[in-house]
Amino acid sequence: ALVAARPRDLDGLHVVVSAGGTREPLDPVRFLGNRSSGRQGVALARAAHARGARVTLVAANVEVPLPQGVDVVRVETGAELRDAVRAAAKDADVVVMAAAVADYRPRTSAESKIKKQPDGTAPVLELVETVDILAELARERLRAGQVVVGFAAETGDDTGSVLEHGRAKARRKGADLLVLNAVGGGRGFGTDDNDVTVLDGAGTVVAAASGSKDEVADAVWDAVLTRG
Ligand code: CTP
Ligand code: CA
Repeated sequence: ALVAARPRDLDGLHVVVSAGGTREPLDPVRFLGNRSSGRQGVALARAAHARGARVTLVAANVEVPLPQGVDVVRVETGAELRDAVRAAAKDADVVVMAAAVADYRPRTSAESKIKKQPDGTAPVLELVETVDILAELARERLRAGQVVVGFAAETGDDTGSVLEHGRAKARRKGADLLVLNAVGGGRGFGTDDNDVTVLDGAGTVVAAASGSKDEVADAVWDAVLTRG
């Protein structure tokens, strides 16, 4: 059978993709995590490699097989993810933050396992905010001309629609592109299908895509090339 050759249109570019959910430790055996499977980030890394890029995949907890042919840096926490992404971003043409980074982490992590209290008192967790890695990358621009891409999963609520929340987030983050994903009602998380809208930093819709996470990944790289 004939297979259409993928265009090597990312040839010569170094791209950094973060994927998966971070885990913030409470003690040696417990963590605060999230339900991100890492599928979309892995699909982005695979697509970029197929299109000729040199790819660094910064992988937090990822529940799908990692792609061949890409440099993988494994991390656990948001702080580790931040360090790994920033190190790789110094010589990257594009950075895509597809990871689900914890917004808060436990203020402390116990060195030994937290024991159940005999008197039945429940512990109270004190949380502190983590660094917004995407906003920081967009602000600092670790390499001139670098394209910074974020993801946002939104639900509509009484304060605004998915698109309204997405536009506000695009402006707040300062990234070049924000890939907006409507979640809830079985869409988005853990599934293989996806519906996305790509916004620029001003909140203007510049592209839309639906289909598998592989198709969405190709649409994101198309949008990056249009933008760059
Ligand atoms: N992100 C990040 N660092 C964080 C939190 C989020 O880099 N500490 C990135 C994500 O990787 C994603 C983008 O920011 O690319 C949007 O994440 P999201 O959780 O939608 O945004 P928040 O600003 O955390 O807003 P919300 O209150 O909706 O969670
Ligand atoms: Ca968040």
